[in-house]
Amino acid sequence: MGAYKEPHGGELKNLYLDEAGVKTEQQAARDYVSWDLTPRQACDLELLLNGAFSPLEGFLTQSEYDAVLTTMRLPSGVLWPMPITLDVSQEFADQVEPGQAIALRDQEGVLLATLTVDDKWTPDKQREAELAFGTTDAKHPAVNYLLNTAGPVYLGGKLKGVEPPTHYDFRLLRDTPEELRERFAKLGWRKVVAFQTRNPLHRAHQELTFRAAREAEANLLIHPVVGMTKPGDVDHYTRVRCYEHVLEQYPEQTTSLSLLPLAMRMAGPREALWHAIIRKNYGCTHFIVGRDHAGPGDDSNGQPFYGPYDAQELFREHEAELDITMVPFKMMVYVEDRAEYVPADETKPDEKVLNISGTEFRRRLQEGLEIPDWFSYPKVVAELRRSYPPRQAQGFTVFFTGLSGSGKSTIANALLVKLLESGGRNVTLLDGDIVRKNLSSELGFSKEHRDLNIQRIGFVAAEITKNGGVAICAPIAPYAHTRQAVRDMIEPVGGFLEIHVATPLEVCEERDRKGLYAKARAGIIKEFTGISDPYEVPESPEMSIDTLALTPELAAHRIFVKLESLGFIR
Ligand code: ADX
Repeated sequence: MGAYKEPHGGELKNLYLDEAGVKTEQQAARDYVSWDLTPRQACDLELLLNGAFSPLEGFLTQSEYDAVLTTMRLPSGVLWPMPITLDVSQEFADQVEPGQAIALRDQEGVLLATLTVDDKWTPDKQREAELAFGTTDAKHPAVNYLLNTAGPVYLGGKLKGVEPPTHYDFRLLRDTPEELRERFAKLGWRKVVAFQTRNPLHRAHQELTFRAAREAEANLLIHPVVGMTKPGDVDHYTRVRCYEHVLEQYPEQTTSLSLLPLAMRMAGPREALWHAIIRKNYGCTHFIVGRDHAGPGDDSNGQPFYGPYDAQELFREHEAELDITMVPFKMMVYVEDRAEYVPADETKPDEKVLNISGTEFRRRLQEGLEIPDWFSYPKVVAELRRSYPPRQAQGFTVFFTGLSGSGKSTIANALLVKLLESGGRNVTLLDGDIVRKNLSSELGFSKEHRDLNIQRIGFVAAEITKNGGVAICAPIAPYAHTRQAVRDMIEPVGGFLEIHVATPLEVCEERDRKGLYAKARAGIIKEFTGISDPYEVPESPEMSIDTLALTPELAAHRIFVKLESLGFIR
């Protein structure tokens, strides 16, 4: 292997079977029950199989899991901070007993590995959250995943690898630990400092990595995570194109770029140790830990989950044992008079420092505002602008909700016409009646069917929004949780405005334009919103419209002005 660094725990694992073994296992797996891996499990599996998670040889068993949670170690005593578990549904777990082997497949049904199940147990998730992440607050992305997405039962045991998950993107930039070790050996790199990131690189990061390489007298590996990062992050396709531009800024032959299909947990200090172990397995000798490493953001009270340098502290405690050297950095800031980036603890009190936060940077992108050259590279900014156009080029959804006969359709139509009149936007109206005729013709008005109807509208609106169009929806949408689900689908891909058409029930019933209220009162129509089924009033819509005070035209005008002020129309 020729690499300088010993893998964690002494031996680099490779859980893939040889050619003959693969054939035998594929044959045997025909009789196994199959589990389709979730995207996160597929990431974990890939790094288990290729040895990036050495010394693990499979998903944690119950005793390993307990030891990792309580001592940050495997029962063997080897440091391992993160529970890597295979969570499954109760229904699936009921088909499996310890001793049995199961097939692990990707979303297309391709057999990737088999797992010989040693343990099956129902974890105490609150305890896991507290021990692994120091909190049970679901604002923490990994806690949220654990409590709200992960299945209730864990299966632990050893893996046999059949084939790695398929990636169609950036194949030349993907390496196994063995391949990277070989590359370092070939290049004659004895010391390699790894830089972990889930964000686009700007000048501050370039300076930080450059300094780290100089300080450690090492070559540099830019090792960005392309598996799963924090929800809301810049997508990895865009980031990788940005990294390729930034690579031009380093002296030739000093720096290498490789992509890591890791599913991050945003676990701050514990995660920093985990990241370092992984890099050690890839053959690196040094690892950069800056400010707020793998930080999950703020908790429900607006307080950070971890201190900005907690990760550095925990690392320091275990550095000797980890056998990979930390290169710590304080926050990098730009000193205007010196025209350079320096760590915050190297500035003088009278020096003016400049900084653009992540939030401010996103605002400037969103509003098409200037991004100064001291902050980033023009090519990086251009790449980001291409993926994240300013609001006027982004799609959005206007989602009306309100009782039957409240005036939603009339206002929606008026808004549609106003948008067409001003031009430059492609608009689709998904009015309640239109949708029920086309998308949802087979559905009735039970709670289940109403939810399904709104989910379909949300799905279509999200697709329209994602592709830069405008969707105007006008269903009754009486249930808050369903409206929230629609919001969650659309907000990541564009604008979302919830408009409550707040006409009181008495007025709707009084108007009774379609005669539905009369029928509902007479019991001819069952489960009628407002009469025999609830309407949950939106708690914080973007706008609430009092149709007693506003004509439909004025209401549409107010929404139009709101869209202008948000920058969605010019
Ligand atoms: S992380 O979730 O992968 O840690 P990010 O990609 O933002 O997030 O950071 C990658 C690494 O760079 C981390 O070690 C982080 O602490 C460090 N870092 C990022 N920005 C700065 C900065 N301005 N000053 C110091 N360190 C930084």
